[in-house]
This record gives sequence, structure tokens and C-alpha cells, in this order.
Amino acid sequence: MADKKRETFGSKLGIIMATAGSALGLGNIYRFPCEAGANGGAAFLMVYLALALLIGTPLMISEFVIGRRSRSNPVGAFKRLSGARSAWPVVGYLGVVCAFLILAFYTTVAGWTLGYLGKSVAGHFGGQDLEAIQQQFSDFTNHPWLPVACQLAFLALTAVVVMRGVKDGIERWSKILMPMLLVIMVVLCVKSLTLSGAGEGLRFFFKPDFSKITGRVVLSALGQSFFSLSIGMGALITYGSYIGRRDNMVSSAVGVALADTLVAVLAGVVIFPAAFSFGIQPEAGAALAFTTLPMVFQQMTGGYFFCLIFFLLLVIATLTSTISLLEVIVAALTEELRLPRRKAALVGAAGTAAIGVLATLSFRTGSPLHIGASTVFDLLDHLTALYMMPIGGLLIVLFVGWKMKRADVMAELTNEGTLRAGLRKGILFIVRYLAPVAIAVIFFSQLLM
Ligand code: TRP
Repeated sequence: MADKKRETFGSKLGIIMATAGSALGLGNIYRFPCEAGANGGAAFLMVYLALALLIGTPLMISEFVIGRRSRSNPVGAFKRLSGARSAWPVVGYLGVVCAFLILAFYTTVAGWTLGYLGKSVAGHFGGQDLEAIQQQFSDFTNHPWLPVACQLAFLALTAVVVMRGVKDGIERWSKILMPMLLVIMVVLCVKSLTLSGAGEGLRFFFKPDFSKITGRVVLSALGQSFFSLSIGMGALITYGSYIGRRDNMVSSAVGVALADTLVAVLAGVVIFPAAFSFGIQPEAGAALAFTTLPMVFQQMTGGYFFCLIFFLLLVIATLTSTISLLEVIVAALTEELRLPRRKAALVGAAGTAAIGVLATLSFRTGSPLHIGASTVFDLLDHLTALYMMPIGGLLIVLFVGWKMKRADVMAELTNEGTLRAGLRKGILFIVRYLAPVAIAVIFFSQLLM
């Protein structure tokens, strides 16, 4: 009966677009180049591609299976599918906590995109040299309150959309704007590839030096693939619970994974040739995207205009990701604690803000918000992407592969037998054997070193 009242996405395109909206975001355009740059470029890319497509996509499908079978938030999902006295709901709680922690540091960078949208409107990048653009990034992140204000504004925006509910809020936004982002990325690629010295950047990104692959690089690639595909913590269990009975989850997941990977690769093709051309270090970390991109625009005819559109689209792509994170918290609070949606969105946003502000302030030079050598920001990033999501992902594939009834899983994968089983048996094989072994080996070998 509860199922009848629960919203579902309006169409197949709706699920793909909402899931793509969740997946596409700062993970592709900011975090991926940052990780690839710090972890050896092409070597990282190769490992990343293998993990995203071979492990990431089946995990994405597993989350959809749990979500649609249970029609519930991640906590309720494990309760419904494994019985009240089981320990599995812990995976759901872990996911909700993980959503909080990701949202906390994700909105730091989300705030920067808002700040940079403001800067592009004001025309701050026109005619500036590299040093001036680097100084702008450092001034902005060191400003005592501006980045915090941008972060809180971003969270408020997210909360407003989430309050209005899944269908009206999330689906409508993603449909039009995700394809536009893809188009502008292609335009940027063309510009970047024609800069002088672009070849060196291309070699860095595409010509692998396999000696650079270490256990740490593989774990970073695993973490990045989970982060980028929004998997390993229940965001796609939540979205899966809104998928209609007749929709094809497998083809949707494959489509989203391919699109997400394409945008990450495009971001690399924009950023590395340009970075090498301007003399920006690929290891520049947080500053990489935020200095390279304004430099590219600044060299383009109509750069003011392109810059503006780009940051506008980036803000929106980021918003559709923060929405999916807050939605995990809201779905859990409304269904498990019976809070009204509005209140749940406010509580979630306020809780996130409390930790998130610390992450933002930890970027200031000389900030005491460090633990050891890491900023609060890096700590939250590593804790979630390198620890919580691999563990969450491992438990999710184990649950679908070994705890759920095989017949139930196949019924979900084939829409009760109406879709062909062949390929889907292969997916189930990966979910049962390959994925858990791979994740466990990558994760535990790093932990023990
Ligand atoms: N995948 C998004 C990105 O690449 C971020 C994101 C949204 C996310 N929801 C998530 C990451 C859930 C992990 C888990 O920008």
C-alpha cells in the first residue's frame, strides 16, 4: 500500500536524466582531473576506465535492484529485504552518514562554482595573465566569508528544490541541461587542443607509464569511479526506488555510466592540454580546474560569453548532484523518522552546513582546521571516497549477489522475465564474484600497507 503513494520518475528518459544529473558534476570536471593529475595521468585513466565500466556499472545496477525491489530509502531498503533483526540496515545508515559527509565538502566546491559564476558575470578573467588568475583563486578561497556565503547559498538552493519533491524538482532540471553541458565541453575541447604545446598535455593524459600504477593509484581510481558514478552509499538505491516497474534499469545504468565516463574524459582533454600549454602543474590539486578553465576562456573569441555559460551549466550540473545527496538524507528522515519533507530538507541542509563550513574554512592559508597534514576538506574527501564508499560498495554487491534471492534479483534485472536474461546473467556473475573480490583486494591491500 505504501508503494501506491510513492512517487516514481515520469519516464525512462526521466530516470536516465535524473541519474545522469546525480552522476555528472564536480566529480567529472573538478575531481577527476585533480586525481588524474596527481596520480600519473594516463596510467590513472586506464585503471579508472576499467574500474568504472567493469565494477562501477554492475554496482550501479545492484543499487537500482535494491531500490526498486524495496521501494524504500537505503535504511528502509535493507530492513525490508533482509528482515528486522538483521544487521544489513547498518549499510543503509552508513550510506546516510556518508551522504552528509560528502555533501559537506562537496558544497565547498559547489560554492566556488557559484562564486566563479559571479566572477564571470563581472568579467574578472578578461585580459588577466596566469599569475593574476592564480591569485584570484587564492584570494577567493582565502576570503573570510565569501566562500562560506556561497556554500550556504548553494545548500539553500538545493534544499528548496528537494522540498518540492522528486518529480517536479529533480527530473525537470536534468532533462534540458545535461545535454547542454556535453555540447559546451566539446566546444572547449576543440579550443584546448588548438593551443600551442597542447600535445604534451595529451601525451600526459593518454600515453600511460604503467610503472606509475601503485596500490594507492588503484584505490584512488576506485574511489573516483564510485564518487563519479554516485555509487557505494545508497544515492542510487534511493533513485532506484523511484524507477517504474517497466523501465529498463540495465540499459539506463549502462547509458549513464558511459555518459559519465565520456564527460570525465572530455574534462581531461580540456584541462591537460591547456594546463601544459599555460604552464600549470597537473598536480595543482584544487586549483587545477579553477585556474586552467578561466585561462582557456580568456584566450577564446567570445570567451566572456562561453565562460558565463560554462559556469552556469556547471552550477546546475553540481546542483543536480547535491540534490541527489540531500535526497538520500531526506528520504531516510521522512520514511524512517516520519518527518515531513520540508522539515527533513531543512534538518539535512542545516546539519550539512555545520560540518561543511569547517571544510570551506580549512582552505584558508594557516587555518587551524587541519588534522595532521590534511585539511578538514581532504579528510572528509578521503574518508568517504577511499574508505566509506568502497566498503559500502562491497557490502552492496555482497547483498545483491549473496543475500537476496537469486530469483528476485533476476526478476528485477529482467523486469519479471520480460527482458532477455543472457547479458543479465553476466552482470549477476560480476556482482557475485568479480566485483566483491576486486573491491576487497584493492581496499584491503591498501589498508594493510
Ligand atoms: N557523482 C557526483 C559527481 O560526480 C557527486 C555525487 C552525487 C555523489 N551523489 C553522490 C558522489 C553520491 C557519491 C555518492 O559530481
